[in-house]
Amino acid sequence: WSKAELSFLGDRIYYYSTIGSTNSEAKRLAQEGASHGTLIIAEEQTRGKGRMGRVWTSPRGTGIWVSIVLKPQIMPSEAPKLTMLTAVAVTEAITEKIGISAGIKWPNDVLIDGKKVCGILTEMSAETDVVNYVVIGTGINVNNDIFPDEIKDTAISLKIAAGNAVDRIQILAGFLERLEYHYKTAMARGFEPVLNEWRKLCCNLGKPVEIVTRDGSFTGIAEDIDEQGALIVKKTDGKFERVLSGDVSLKYR
Ligand code: BTN
Repeated sequence: WSKAELSFLGDRIYYYSTIGSTNSEAKRLAQEGASHGTLIIAEEQTRGKGRMGRVWTSPRGTGIWVSIVLKPQIMPSEAPKLTMLTAVAVTEAITEKIGISAGIKWPNDVLIDGKKVCGILTEMSAETDVVNYVVIGTGINVNNDIFPDEIKDTAISLKIAAGNAVDRIQILAGFLERLEYHYKTAMARGFEPVLNEWRKLCCNLGKPVEIVTRDGSFTGIAEDIDEQGALIVKKTDGKFERVLSGDVSLKYR
């Protein structure tokens, strides 16, 4: 892609044919001092990681399996907003490059026709009030024809949605350009503009949801997100619950 469009993302790119997990490699490289904007990309992951200890299926050549090392000057509590910013960038790139409308399911799944096309796993190294680095791992299903049984009803690829093969480079370039734009804007002016975009693209707000935590679940209406990106749920009993993305999953009802 035309590198000139990017000022810091991809200054350094590590490209692997096969790797366990680009996120694990990115953390290793960040520990060794990898610079802000370093990208780690693989054709195939043998131990792709999803949220909450799940596996992320990452077959050879089908998708974009990329991790990005960032060194933002933010509080650790603001990191979830970087993940949300990333979901906005992916969603915009899909619409811009292939004209298909995608939506975001809180906190950061990108969906087409209600099925997941992209997942984001953010991992961070931080002290009490400084972030050392953040690794944003993004998996986009681009040309997958089939999915494993466990996810075949809930996953989709851009190829399945578009009806034809999609150029991975185009999607990656579009994603990185949107990511850099929103990142720079957020660092200069705060996250509010991108969180407003997130609100517009979100398909849960105002809808009934079920929040599943380790200790049980509850239902309610997803009212809004707050300034930290937490979901505000109005429970059936009328009380409001603030939900952080950490260890919960959300189901439509
Ligand atoms: C999720 O929705 O559960 C998050 C999935 C994140 C997958 C990506 S693929 C690139 C990066 N490397 C990993 O091991 N995981 C992330």
